[in-house]
Amino acid sequence: MCGIVGYLGHQNAADVIVTGLKRLEYRGYDSAGVAVVDDDGLHVRKKLGKVAALEASVGAGLPGHVGVGHTRWATHGFPSDENAHPHLSTDGTFALVHNGIIENYAALRTRLSSKGYTFYSQTDTEVLVRLVEEVMQLTGSSLEESLRQALTQVDGTYGVALVSSLDTDLMIAARNGSPLVVGVGDGEYFLGSDAAPIVEHTRRVVYLNDGEMVVIRRAGFEVRTIDNEIMSKEIHELEWDLEQIEKGGYPHFMLKEIFEQPISIEDCMRGRVGTDIVLGGLADSMDRIRNARRIVIAACGTSWHAAMVGEYLIEGLARIPVEVEYASEFRYRDPILHPDDCVIVISQSGETADTLAAVREAQSKGVPVYGIVNTVGSTIARETDAGVYLHAGPEIGVASTKAFTAQVTVLTMIALALGKDRTLSPETFAEYLLELHAIPQKISKALRTEKQIRDIAKLNRLASNFLYLGRGFNFPVALEGALKLKEISYIHAEGYPAAEMKHGPIALIDQFMPVVFIALRDNSTYGKVVSNIEEVVARSGNVIVITDDNNRELDELCEHVICVPKTLEFLSPLMTVIPMQLLSYHIAVLRGCDVDQPRNLAKSVTVE
Ligand code: G6P
Repeated sequence: MCGIVGYLGHQNAADVIVTGLKRLEYRGYDSAGVAVVDDDGLHVRKKLGKVAALEASVGAGLPGHVGVGHTRWATHGFPSDENAHPHLSTDGTFALVHNGIIENYAALRTRLSSKGYTFYSQTDTEVLVRLVEEVMQLTGSSLEESLRQALTQVDGTYGVALVSSLDTDLMIAARNGSPLVVGVGDGEYFLGSDAAPIVEHTRRVVYLNDGEMVVIRRAGFEVRTIDNEIMSKEIHELEWDLEQIEKGGYPHFMLKEIFEQPISIEDCMRGRVGTDIVLGGLADSMDRIRNARRIVIAACGTSWHAAMVGEYLIEGLARIPVEVEYASEFRYRDPILHPDDCVIVISQSGETADTLAAVREAQSKGVPVYGIVNTVGSTIARETDAGVYLHAGPEIGVASTKAFTAQVTVLTMIALALGKDRTLSPETFAEYLLELHAIPQKISKALRTEKQIRDIAKLNRLASNFLYLGRGFNFPVALEGALKLKEISYIHAEGYPAAEMKHGPIALIDQFMPVVFIALRDNSTYGKVVSNIEEVVARSGNVIVITDDNNRELDELCEHVICVPKTLEFLSPLMTVIPMQLLSYHIAVLRGCDVDQPRNLAKSVTVE
């Protein structure tokens, strides 16, 4: 949700920043801008649209070795050149970029306007710029001190970065609620909303915490709190490789990430699944979770769907009651938490504002919170009491794919580890682990359905509505299939438990309505799902069914039968979601949609 890049060093700043913005474009792509400084002053380019438009406008380049850039996901003010960041001081000496929301911007803007300050955009960010100017004018303080004082007057969230033409050896940044990472190079420094724009330059990073501000000069950097207390910061080593954040020959990140799943799941299980399950990050917490009266899982979007699979897994395999909550609802409804409860949060980015707020809400009630997070060093990973990383590698496509399967894999490992000492006999436990080991290879086979799915996509690409139906472990997969289609192809789609179809959605069915069913033969509800398929066919609905291992029983009944490898029922979401991902991908491509950067969405939602 808005990406920030900054550079101070010896390279051409505009080049580093524009390349970095491309790597952060998944955070927002309504407009982009860059401001660099040299002895001649500030050089600024801002463009509506994607970073490519900015790149064209920068053309042969801008001079200067210090600068900041921004790719925007609009909150206050529609996407336009004027509303694009950076925003400049009235005298044109400093430029500021911002990710987040200044909640009291309206009151501040009214006050500052009445004092004669002029605003050129509709953004909340420009208020912060004028506030810094006001502090400078009133107190004569330095730019860094003025920013610090200005930030004490704003409510809301921010990651901000600033450069000034009056000092070409200075870059300032601060965060509260929106992530910022400082890359430490050799005589050069980088800033990023995450490590993606930094990794090709250096692996040494410093994570800023909420309420911290960094002042960077070529000779070094200093971190203080907004209350002016000097902080000593640890330098972390990044684990990412550059090739992990590039497309590697695939036309889209989403397709690359779909096809990475055999490896990402293998990586997720590496060192954790042998003859036992060892989750190092939860080693000291497992007893606490096992003895919990209830586990509450909070998440958003696709991670919420993984949480729902987690509910079936933990209740089914370990018989511990689980409740799944939308993080956004959980935080605002004063949730009842018993001292014996525990909370698990799930987040790919580790930065989702609502999920982070759920962490803090639960912690404020004295309950331990465990994180299932992909992004190492992210805020949720750092603020939770303990947790498990996905190790799925960076996910760049806005529609989540490999993170979902890795989340389900982690939840499976947790459920099995909890069930081992409660409900599962040693033989059953061993049998389950064996099958878990086989999953990456089976996913490779499931991916071979791609050609068939592309053909199905061709036939259904013009549909206006889709229905996705599944039961039990595969009900959340139906929700996820519908979400994937909505997100990237803009086709209206709904997921339902198959048996609920007769209580409403059946009214929608006609020959124009593709209905995607998940019907696996060994599931106790298979017969019932087949009856639901009959009901759809009787109303001329067009059925696409996902079933297992050469099940030819449904050939007569259904227009399209997609077979994925057979596995144990509790592991089947890892198999059935694969054709769902491929179907939405190919429909979106055929409709000419921007698969990796769907309209209005952002990958990391750091505002509420
Ligand atoms: C956004 C993304 C989704 C993601 C959700 C939760 O809406 O577009 O793909 O599932 O946020 O994100 P998280 O990083 O917390 O998993």
